[in-house]
This record gives sequence, C-alpha cells and structure tokens, in this order.
Amino acid sequence: MAATEQELARGTWLVTGGCGFIGSEFLRQAHRALPDVRLVNLDSLSYAASPDRVAELEGSPRYRFVKGDISRPADVDAAMTACAQLSGAGGPTALINFAAESHVDRSLFTGMPFVMANTLGVQVLLEAGRKFVEKGVLKRFLQVSTDEVYGDVHEPHRSVETDPIHTSSPYSASKAGGELLVQAFVRSFKFPAIVTRCSNNYGPWHWPEKMIPLFIMRLLQGKKVPVYGDGMQKRDWIHVEDHAAGIMAALLRGQDGEIYNFDGEIEIDNLSLTRKLLSLAQRDESFIEYVKDRPGHDRRYALDSAKAQRELGWRQKWTLEAGLRQTFDWFVAHKSWLDKVLNEEYQSYYKQQYEVR
Ligand code: TYD
Repeated sequence: MAATEQELARGTWLVTGGCGFIGSEFLRQAHRALPDVRLVNLDSLSYAASPDRVAELEGSPRYRFVKGDISRPADVDAAMTACAQLSGAGGPTALINFAAESHVDRSLFTGMPFVMANTLGVQVLLEAGRKFVEKGVLKRFLQVSTDEVYGDVHEPHRSVETDPIHTSSPYSASKAGGELLVQAFVRSFKFPAIVTRCSNNYGPWHWPEKMIPLFIMRLLQGKKVPVYGDGMQKRDWIHVEDHAAGIMAALLRGQDGEIYNFDGEIEIDNLSLTRKLLSLAQRDESFIEYVKDRPGHDRRYALDSAKAQRELGWRQKWTLEAGLRQTFDWFVAHKSWLDKVLNEEYQSYYKQQYEVR
C-alpha cells in the first residue's frame, strides 16, 4: 500500500547529504514545517559540505547527525540504526538521497568520485532500503537528480519527464546511472521510489565553485569573473527554497515510480546573468574575463515543470531579481562563512582550474 501524506509527515526520514547546499535547505524546511517528523542526516562531510548550514537543527531532539559515506554499506547501516533509535521503531519511513558530487568541472578532472557517490552510492542505498521496504518500514525513497540527464536541449523545447536521457559530462552520466538503478528497482522489486530532476539551483549557502556564488564572491573580492566561452550558454535557474519545497511536495504527495521536473521558469544566458551580478556588485563590464570554454559544454538546459505543478500543486515563488538580490545580500552578510570555506582544498582546486584555462 502506498504511503499516505500523514504517515510520512509523522515518520523518520533519512536524509543523505544534509550538510550540502540543497539537502540542508530541505532539512531546515522539514524541521520547521513538520513538528512530528524525525530527521537523520547522513553526510560524509566532503569538501563542499558545511555543518553550519544545519546549525539551527543541532540539539533538536528530532535530529541526529551521522558522519558517513553512502558508497560504504557499513555507514548506511549505521544511519539506519540511528533512524531506528530515533524513531523507537524499525528504521526510516522515508529516504531522501541528496548526497552527490555535483560540480561538472571537477568531474572533468576526475570522474571516479562521481561514479562512487552518484552511481555506486545509489546502489548501496537501494540495497539497504530494500530490506526496510520488505519489513514494511520504509515507505518511500526519493532520488534527487538533475536536468543535466537530458543533456543539451534546443529552442524552443523544454525537457519533459518522458524525454530520453542523453548525458554529456561524467557528472551527468554518473547521475543518470544512479537514476537508472532506481528505475530498475521500481520495475524489478516494486520499490516505492520517486525521481526528481531539477534545473540549476542558487541561493544562500551555495558553495563558491558554482557560477553564481563564485561570481558574487569574486566581485566582492574586487576580482574579475571567468565567463566560459562566449557566455551564450543558457540555464534555467531555480531558487533553492523552491527546489526543496518541490522535493517535499513530491515526497509527500507524489506517486511511486514517477519522475517530476522542477525549474525556476527563468531561462537566461550566462552573460546576461553575469551582467545582473555586476550590477548588484556595482561593477562594470571590465570585470568580465572571457576564458577557455568547458569541454563538452552543454549550450542550453530548459525544463518543463507542468507535471509537478498539476499533480503536486507546487509552484515556484522566487523571481530571479528578488532571488539574486537576496542571495547577494546573504553573501555580503556571511563573509565570515566564505572566509572559512576557502580552505586549502578550495585553493588547490582553483589553482588547477586556472592552469587548465
Ligand atoms: P555551474 O554553476 O557550474 O552549473 P552547471 O554546469 O551545472 O550548469 O555553471 C553554470 C553555467 O555557468 C555553465 O554554463 C558554466 C558557466 N560557468 C562559467 O561561465 N564560469 C565559471 O567559472 C563557472 C563555474 C561556470
């Protein structure tokens, strides 16, 4: 029997990657909005994780943190045990997988961590999850995926859930691998899973290797911003709050076996977006530096979220203008967080990046 919304909202959720940018937003929303839900956060604390993002949950009797890696079965078992302890019952009612390596440029340097987390890690979670489904404990598994599995899309098409997978980078290929494993479990074992695919996220707490936070950070430091190629690539930007709300809607009201797209209904080329950031930082065009393009760079992503709007009653709330202003102001106010995360790993990665360019 499919899980009801009430049953899920009163349950124990295993959230993987909850110290990441999107997972932490989801945890904060769930903790604030659902007073009966219990939350276990399994996170490996890899380079882009920051426990500061979930500081407001620390000390809550409804929250536990487990340090561990989804590609290691023993770590996943430890998280399942934490769920059993926190729930006083058998384990997690829902498992929401945010844990992933997500930066395309890094995947072009070294794809192995991407396959480990995004493909093998999903298989480990599915195998562990299946035991709890068979016991009647786990009612829903949600795999957070990406619009990048659709690859380049040409104007005026917007990708719909039934479009074929056509990946370009080791990142998107590893995410597609994870999704296909989820779909294999749905088909083979009637595993109660949902897949969500989302367009480019932005917002507070974003790791400063992705375009928007990187550019804001560099402009605040008085440095130029590196625009790849001609800057005419298009992305469809969604505020992270809207994305997390979409995942919540899919988890609580979605149908097993379905895929749901989420986008911000904001399609803009990189150069126009850069100009908006320049204007927020009160910098002129001389702060743009055109650099060597990313290999295999997808020209355009665009998503159609009509299914999620129709079937889940979800809608985007943020406009790009309001979201960029809020994000810019947040980074200005959280300079100390930026200083903290610009650690040795970050510096050495960027050194390699610039050599490539
Ligand atoms: P990114 O934030 O890496 O997300 P994705 O590659 O998943 O879309 O990049 C967004 C766009 O910005 C993408 O077209 C690449 C471009 N970009 C730059 O032009 N310069 C940069 O330094 C970065 C990181 C990205």
